[in-house]
Amino acid sequence: MKIVAIVGSPRAKGNTSILVDAALEEAAAQGCEVEKIMLSEFKIEGCRGHDRCSTYDKCKIGDDIPMILDKFSNADGTILATPVYYYNMTAQMKTFVDRNFFLYTHGIPLKSKCMGLIVVAGGGADDITIKALKRCFRIQGGNTPENWLEVSGYAMGLGEVKNNPDLIAKARDLGKKMAERIGK
Ligand SMILES: Cc1cc2nc3c(=O)[nH]c(=O)nc-3n(C[C@H](O)[C@H](O)[C@H](O)COP(=O)(O)O)c2cc1C
Repeated sequence: MKIVAIVGSPRAKGNTSILVDAALEEAAAQGCEVEKIMLSEFKIEGCRGHDRCSTYDKCKIGDDIPMILDKFSNADGTILATPVYYYNMTAQMKTFVDRNFFLYTHGIPLKSKCMGLIVVAGGGADDITIKALKRCFRIQGGNTPENWLEVSGYAMGLGEVKNNPDLIAKARDLGKKMAERIGK
């Protein structure tokens, strides 16, 4: 079984990335195959809102998103992880969310049996951001509230979350629970 984590932070060594690593390490220890995708390392563009999206065999934008969506939609478990930027997800994560419209217009459901949400804020709005992510993915097949696990907390500077072992333990637990739910 495979877990794919989509990370919306531009910081490879940032707090969100550290929590995702903790979750994936634990899932791998439980026997899952894991893959982490840092959106900022790929060529991604905003949705162009083609009215005839559903009639196109493949997305008209020639960037890396179709490849990422293929991995995301076929994963047995998925993690969406983002820092809070201005009371919501980062631009990278929102771009990814919008591009899921291709899956939606083509009736392609996510195979994921469990979705983990990881959000890091400097001091607030993590709840708003979790809610926004849930709202976006509620409609995409199989993603009902019973299938969601979430971890959120606070850290500001680069890597500061390392000083918060409780939060790292929660992320590890999320990875373990995901592995249990999707099986090895
Ligand atoms: C452009 C920008 C906007 C931010 N907006 C918020 C915010 O609205 N609320 C908040 O609590 N923290 C905010 N932060 C702080 C980040 O959420 C915080 O530094 C987080 O740890 C960054 O995660 P990362 O290390 O994974 O990149 C913002 C940071 C940046 C750079």
